[in-house]
Amino acid sequence: MTINRRVQTLDEFTIQQLRNFPNATGELSGLLRDMGLAAKRVNVEVNKAGLIDILGDAGSVNVQGEEVKKLDVFANNQFVGVLRHGISCAGIGSEELDDILVFDDEISNNSKYVCLFDPLDGSANIDVNVSIGTIFSVFRRVTPVGTPVTLADFLQPGIKQVAAGYVIYGSSTILVYATRRGVNGFTLDPSIGEWTLSHPDIKCPPAGKIYSVNHGNFFQYEEGVRKYINVCQQKEASEGGPYTQRYIGSMVSDVHRNLIKGGIFMYPALKDKPGGKLRLLYECSPFAFIVEVAGGLATDGKQRILDIQPTHVHQRTPLYIGSKLMMEELNSYINPDQS
Ligand code: AHG
Repeated sequence: MTINRRVQTLDEFTIQQLRNFPNATGELSGLLRDMGLAAKRVNVEVNKAGLIDILGDAGSVNVQGEEVKKLDVFANNQFVGVLRHGISCAGIGSEELDDILVFDDEISNNSKYVCLFDPLDGSANIDVNVSIGTIFSVFRRVTPVGTPVTLADFLQPGIKQVAAGYVIYGSSTILVYATRRGVNGFTLDPSIGEWTLSHPDIKCPPAGKIYSVNHGNFFQYEEGVRKYINVCQQKEASEGGPYTQRYIGSMVSDVHRNLIKGGIFMYPALKDKPGGKLRLLYECSPFAFIVEVAGGLATDGKQRILDIQPTHVHQRTPLYIGSKLMMEELNSYINPDQS
């Protein structure tokens, strides 16, 4: 067997990045390694979900009022477990937990990061073999190192993120993470169990032809959004139109596709749900960070997602995210006074 030494693993990549920062402690690399380890364990269970009795409801309802699936519980436990036993994370917030979890032991209190995550996003798709994913966000704590973290460490605007990432458990398994320096994707090579650099320096194409939205809710959207959707459908061939509508119902996959190919993803406010459906801290803020670093834009329809000051960990927000030119065109319909 020939070994391809041009392949760079996640560990090799993060260690190489460290060389650019002589004062770096390696804590962030450790945290990313921990997330990668938990994701590999989740991947194994996702792959055999059809074979063993791990499908179906766990019987409880999470803090969002949604039914919790067994794999959600498993995934949550994996991420909590690796971060608790690692040396980089002082506490976590999870979409599956009512409150933040402060690790509060000597090693954890001396860690400088907190992590927020949605352990298994798109869980309604688990039973039907559609791609699902994990989304995570890393902040530097604002309370002094050496003390237990508090809610203030988690309630930070997205612009303060140090890193954010996601994993897709799909036709292949990919881990994508962003720091301010760039966005890079690592595909899991199952033959060696390593994340290998497959998508270096991801850039979001400024223009695209894909729009992703739940059409079933069309008449619940505000007028400007409905107008923009009609515009996408009526684009002339000379403008690349009509645009293609693609909506998996698994945000991780929808936004990943649009990040690579160019496109826009929208989860607008609904008549009876002004905050929309998606969670600011577990879904929107990390994706806004990743997409902005890659050159795209993300707003709630009024302001940048990254500028929103969260008031509680489970808050929701409308989301518009994707290619810069598409976002600008959308904005001309939802905020006509600004154009
Ligand atoms: P969940 O994890 O509860 O299944 O939610 C998935 C999210 C997101 O990933 C997806 O884009 C959106 O919900 C789909 O919601 P709709 O079915 O309302 O379109």
